[in-house]
Amino acid sequence: MPLDIVIGTQWGDEGKGRVVDLLAGSADFVARYNGGDNAGHTVTVGDRIFKLHLVPSGILHPHSVAVIGNGLVVNPAVLLEELETLNNAGVDVSPDRLRLSYAAHLITPAHLALDRAQELARGKSNIGTTLRGIGPAYVSKASRQGLRMEAMLDVDTFADAIRAHIEDANRMLTGIFHVEPLDARAVANQFVDYARRLTPYIADVAAVLSDALAAGRRVLAEGAQGTLLDLDHGTYPFVTSSSPVAGGALIGLGLGIGFVERVIGVTKAFQTRVGSGPFPTELDGETALHLRGSGSQPWDEYGTTTGRPRRVGWLDLVLLRYAVRVNGLTELVVSKLDILSGLDPLFVCSAYRMDGKTIPDLPFGPGNLARFEPVYTQLPGWREDIQSARRWEDLPAAARSYILTIEEQCGVPVRLISVGPERDQIVVID
Ligand code: GDP
Ligand code: IMO
Ligand code: MG
Repeated sequence: MPLDIVIGTQWGDEGKGRVVDLLAGSADFVARYNGGDNAGHTVTVGDRIFKLHLVPSGILHPHSVAVIGNGLVVNPAVLLEELETLNNAGVDVSPDRLRLSYAAHLITPAHLALDRAQELARGKSNIGTTLRGIGPAYVSKASRQGLRMEAMLDVDTFADAIRAHIEDANRMLTGIFHVEPLDARAVANQFVDYARRLTPYIADVAAVLSDALAAGRRVLAEGAQGTLLDLDHGTYPFVTSSSPVAGGALIGLGLGIGFVERVIGVTKAFQTRVGSGPFPTELDGETALHLRGSGSQPWDEYGTTTGRPRRVGWLDLVLLRYAVRVNGLTELVVSKLDILSGLDPLFVCSAYRMDGKTIPDLPFGPGNLARFEPVYTQLPGWREDIQSARRWEDLPAAARSYILTIEEQCGVPVRLISVGPERDQIVVID
């Protein structure tokens, strides 16, 4: 009854989409369990690049069923647009291939407007959200005022509920943030149209997945964001509003704990972050340019969802050890090792220093990282292009010792090393 969970160990964009696409080859179901269209998961298939925001990356494998779990907040306009793009690219997105939880929550234009207004009001101390309405939609959910997918099943009461929700939000938008109100009637009409198009996808996905697991089928849970963006366990308050960690997969899909087999953490070979918040190993200058790229390559470090340049830095093993612990990782996948080619020497952060003391692990989680200084271990670099490496022996000795250092310092095996964005650019370690 294997449920495997793929999780970002950093601040998102670790290459989860690429890894899920690879593992989906042997999965019957691929299920997103948290977040919304703040996610941008890139999958490269030959000369085609798919950027998925809501639809699980498994949709690209014709044999697997894609599932959107109850833990998500779904903007129906974005979902329908994504389905149309996939359909135009020849991907089957019929309701037998995509199931949408009746208990996932809707993102409305009110949530988008509130996200924008709140970020503007925060001024210099903004979070740097993706402005996709994620935080406000989870606030609606937690305050028990949210609208779930199941509300779409009765179009008449749904229209009334949307109108009331928008009118309610308008009081806040105009009264507190002094921005224009939304046209409640127009939004309601629009959402009735979305409802007509999305109802065929709505299902009890928790039941579908539990039955499938009990029957021995394989389910791959696809995390969005990353451990350090987790609402409880990340760099609070510079986090997202959902639970990307392993525990979030069970809640966000409605599954029991006994199904879990592998908990797979994806880490980039270096560190990136988009948005505000502490980043102890952040770099600028030449090395940062090398890691980020100039934007000429599709994998260069510019946000998939927002296009913002990502902040970059050396790999932080203190934070990676924390991710191993919080998620109970059974293994690691290291992505973008190819990007380190040509940097010599390399550095990894093995501990932090505070008030003259060196500490190997975080005393109170990652909320207050700004007070720590990284303690670096220097490692040799390599010059060779490694994008064509396929076996452990194909990697230069320095690249192998970089991976071995990660394993030794984190205490879990590295099972896969990604050396390029394409499906076959992978080194599998037995
Ligand atoms: P996700 O949000 O975790 O799915 O990651 P993103 O898709 O936002 O960002 C990862 C980027 O790196 C994408 O452009 C991928 O195609 C690319 N990528 C993934 N693995 C590798 C790799 O091993 N090497 C290179 N060069 N690019 C990679
Ligand atoms: P994937 O799944 C990287 C970041 C935003 C911001 C913070 C809160 O592609 O890895 P939000 O809009 O969620 O309220 O923004 O979280 N963020 C991400 N950063 N990758 C993501 O997703 C992200 N989703 C949200 O930049 O700092
Ligand atoms: Mg991404």
